[in-house]
Amino acid sequence: MPPSAAPSRPWKTRLFTATSLNDYLARSDHSITWLTSPTPNPSHAVPTPPERKTTPTFEQHMSTVDFIVMGRQTFDVCLSLPEWPYPKKELLVLSRGMDCLPVDLMRGKGLGQSGEGNGKVRVVRSIEEVKQVLDAEVRSGRMVYVDGGQTAREFLRRGWVDEVVLTVAPVVLAGGGRGLFCGLGAELEAEGMGDLEFTLVGVDVIENGMVKVYYRVKGNGESEICESGHI
Ligand SMILES: NC(=O)c1ccc[n+]([C@@H]2O[C@H](COP(=O)([O-])OP(=O)(O)OC[C@H]3O[C@@H](n4cnc5c(N)ncnc54)[C@H](OP(=O)(O)O)[C@@H]3O)[C@@H](O)[C@H]2O)c1
Repeated sequence: MPPSAAPSRPWKTRLFTATSLNDYLARSDHSITWLTSPTPNPSHAVPTPPERKTTPTFEQHMSTVDFIVMGRQTFDVCLSLPEWPYPKKELLVLSRGMDCLPVDLMRGKGLGQSGEGNGKVRVVRSIEEVKQVLDAEVRSGRMVYVDGGQTAREFLRRGWVDEVVLTVAPVVLAGGGRGLFCGLGAELEAEGMGDLEFTLVGVDVIENGMVKVYYRVKGNGESEICESGHI
C-alpha cells in the first residue's frame, strides 16, 4: 500500500535523527562518540550562516512536539544520560519485553507515570496500541516525534512518517551498528508498498562537516506546521 493510500491519521510525525554514512544511528554498543566528539578536520566546509539556514533546529522541532514515541532501546540509553533530554513531553515507550517501567531510575530523572515533573511515561505493547493513543490524544496540527531505528522503521513501513530531519556524519563506521533504514526495503516490499520517496525541503552544512537534510515524505500531504517550507 503506498503511503498516500494509508488510512488517514489526525496526527503527523517527524523523525529527527543522525546517522553515519553507512546508516548507523549508533554502534552496536550504543556508542555515538563519532557524532558527539568526531575527529577534528579543519578542511570541512564551513557551516551554513544562521540567516540562510533551511532546516529546523532541534529546539524548533521540539516546540511542535507534545508526544514522543520511542523504542525501548532508545529509552534505556536516554535514561542512562545525566539529564533527561526531552523534558515536559508525553512519552510512549514501545516494548513487548519490558515487564514494568524502571520507576526508580525515572524518578531520578524527574519522570513519572501520571504527568507530573519532566513528563508522563507509558509503555505501549504494539504499534496498534500506539496508534490508538495517538488517535485519541494528539492535538490537531501537533507533531509526534518518532525515535529509535526499529521504531522508525515500524512507522515508515506503515506510511506513518510525514517528515524526516536527518543529520549525516562524514564517516563510515567500522564494525556493526544499529541502522535507521537497514532492512526497510524488504519490509516495504513485504507490505506490498513501493518505494518511499521524499521531497527535499532544506539542506544545511552544520558543524564538523555534517550535513542536515529536511524532507517531507511524498504522498503524505503537507504538514500544517511546515506549509511555508520551514517550521
Ligand atoms: N543517532 C541518533 O540520532 C539516534 C537517535 C535515536 C536513537 N539512537 C540510538 O539507536 C539505538 C536504538 O535504536 P534501535 O533500532 O536499536 O531500537 P529502538 O527502536 O530504540 O528500540 C527497539 C525496541 O523497541 C521495541 N519494539 C520495536 N518494535 C516494536 C513493536 N512493533 N511492538 C512492540 N515493541 C516494539 C522492542 O523492545 P523490547 O525488546 O523491549 O520488546 C525493540 O527491542 C540506541 O543506541 C540509541 O541511542 C540514535
